[in-house]
Amino acid sequence: MIKLTIDGKTVHANPGDHVLDVALENGIDIPHLCHHKDLFPSGSCRMCLVQVEGAPRPQTSCGMTVQDGMVIDTKTGAIEAMRRDIVDLFVSDHPLNCVICDKNGSCDLQDNAYRYNIQETSFDFELSRPKYYDDNPFYVRDYQYCIMCGKCVRVCDEIVGANAIDFSGRGFTSIISTPFEVPLAESDCVFCGNCVQICPTAALLPRSKIGKGREWEMERRQTICGYCGVGCTVEYALKDGKIIYAQGTPDGAVNGEFLCVKGRFGWDFNSSPDRLTEPLIRKDLAYELGLTDEPWEMPKTSALKGKPKLGNFIPVSWEQAIDITATKLAGIVQKHGPDAVVGLTSARCTNEENYLFQKFMRAGVGTNNVDHCARL
Ligand code: FES
Repeated sequence: MIKLTIDGKTVHANPGDHVLDVALENGIDIPHLCHHKDLFPSGSCRMCLVQVEGAPRPQTSCGMTVQDGMVIDTKTGAIEAMRRDIVDLFVSDHPLNCVICDKNGSCDLQDNAYRYNIQETSFDFELSRPKYYDDNPFYVRDYQYCIMCGKCVRVCDEIVGANAIDFSGRGFTSIISTPFEVPLAESDCVFCGNCVQICPTAALLPRSKIGKGREWEMERRQTICGYCGVGCTVEYALKDGKIIYAQGTPDGAVNGEFLCVKGRFGWDFNSSPDRLTEPLIRKDLAYELGLTDEPWEMPKTSALKGKPKLGNFIPVSWEQAIDITATKLAGIVQKHGPDAVVGLTSARCTNEENYLFQKFMRAGVGTNNVDHCARL
């Protein structure tokens, strides 16, 4: 264990730990914009400057490894003045239209402008990259808000492995871009949206969020993503009971902060008017069971084409549905033997549910005819 002192507080760390991570873990706040605990440090924003005793000048703490006996000051007057200048420079080419910005309330740059009481830049204001891309169904890219922290590039490379975007150009007009600025759909982007999640400003925003409410109006609900058996933690932001967007949470036990495209963007079925919310049985069976007087009407087109005709189904309770299914299943097994039935389960169930299902088929029904749709 390494022992060091940060702002007069003695803290312990492991060899190889970075000073910024150690400070944050110990409740010592060091401003930062380009740092993410799961990404390699890039040192691009310079906000995390600290003064190490004996060092000739301030150094960035996100990429500095701890050394035994280090004495670090994170808030000298000179360092705070440098950080203020850095934020001032950031806002010299970043619109300060926070009142109408969809990132208002969850913007790291806004937080730092507030921290250093910067209402407007003291430099000449000029937008360096006023480019707006609306080229996919999931998120928009509005680069006038980009601060070139590179977190999106790093998450795409280090976590996702897609390498769909990178820095392009030089100097003031450099920008984050796909190769040759092709639309995202023509790039290697897999639309996981992890870049959107860790973008510190409004440069990357989920389309579903735009104009749908302020951050502080939204209720947060955590759950386990239902798309597969991995069990990723997903947090939904809701307004008036409707999902506005989904995101990972930093403490997600399985997935950390990151999600796949399905978990992040594939939730609109939740409020779809086509969603089935109760068990339905076909009218011919309902007629046979005396649950309806209406006769079955043969559909004119295949049920696989277009929307199913719900008029040919009637709703029943879960108890009735389970009862009918069990009776029918038992009838088939009695008449034709257990191998006359097959059980097909879903990748959207948990591992435990799938285990129980195969157990039911093998030990309950008595057949090994059990399979799984592992193609979600
Ligand atoms: Fe260290 Fe950006 S957080 S340089």
